[in-house]
Amino acid sequence: MKKTKKILIILFSILSSLIVVALISAYFLFLHHYKGTNIVNEWSKTDEFNIESIATVEKQKDKDFVVLNLADVQMCDLEDIFHFSTIKSEIDYLVKTTKPNLITLTGDQTWSNENLISLKVLISWLDSYKIPYAPVFGNHDYGNQKDSAVASQNFCCDLYEKGKYSLFKRGPSNLGALGNYVFNIVEDGKIFKTIYMLDSGYEDKITDQQIEWFNWNADGIKSANNGEYSQGMVFFHKPLPEYATAYRHYSWDMSDAEAIGEVYQNWSMSGSMQNGFFDAAKSKNVVDIVCGHQHGNNWTIKYQDVRLTFALKTGELGGYYSDETTYLNGATAFCLSEDSTQIQNIFVDEKQFHINGSHND
Ligand SMILES: [Fe+2]
Repeated sequence: MKKTKKILIILFSILSSLIVVALISAYFLFLHHYKGTNIVNEWSKTDEFNIESIATVEKQKDKDFVVLNLADVQMCDLEDIFHFSTIKSEIDYLVKTTKPNLITLTGDQTWSNENLISLKVLISWLDSYKIPYAPVFGNHDYGNQKDSAVASQNFCCDLYEKGKYSLFKRGPSNLGALGNYVFNIVEDGKIFKTIYMLDSGYEDKITDQQIEWFNWNADGIKSANNGEYSQGMVFFHKPLPEYATAYRHYSWDMSDAEAIGEVYQNWSMSGSMQNGFFDAAKSKNVVDIVCGHQHGNNWTIKYQDVRLTFALKTGELGGYYSDETTYLNGATAFCLSEDSTQIQNIFVDEKQFHINGSHND
């Protein structure tokens, strides 16, 4: 009897300990708010620009430079954890197929308050490719409501900045959101492209401060580039109002809007507000603007000489059937050479990986 009692006490102790450990782990994984490092770094347009502060990525001479964009991967610790391996397989396939020199991510890499495991796992995948990568935040990355997630905006910045191959660099703290940064792709000591990563975060527009900061960078880089604006590409999450205008003009066969490749337009383009960023970008020699956010839309329309791209959504979760034949899931690749840009959408479906809809410009 004594022996049975002793065994029962031991079992009860083990079980109680396991429950306590499980509850503590659940708290720190799904409920605790990781605040991260709060850095006050206010920018003013009167600050002196220093080209040395701009990171560079090397382009090999006489070889194309491939940018693979992953849009709206949307991982969640609670609901998607058993799908992680499928998402990983898809990204592996996309990287293997396109052999990129740079991976960009246009926001909503995670999509809920439970983002800690997802973001750490995603960063570990990206580092495993040993290719530079550049993420921006979307409207879900640090919570369903502003900064409500387990990993706060600052903590997400900390994680991205620690990524071994990450180009992410926290921007000034007075632009409305933190994920704004710029880098140059350089060939033979000359700027080949300037990449502007902007954080459209929870806002419905690129803020006035972001536009001023963008202009300041473009003008600073111009001074270091023999007085010429370098060709720019801009990546952010939410589309500009000009996307809606471009699509309308394309639908009406107007001469200032030309589709490059197939056009999948299934969702309305509400949610973005007029703010003048498009005109600012155009005046600074930006030739490509790339957004995500609306999974039912995938197209490139050249509007007033700027290619506006709705990047293809990545990852099986929240994919969208455009019709019976086209599943909008995969990624968009930009093959950049000295005198042309080829844009290719790599479509992936659950049954079979396949490529569909390659197009050039
Ligand atoms: Fe979004």
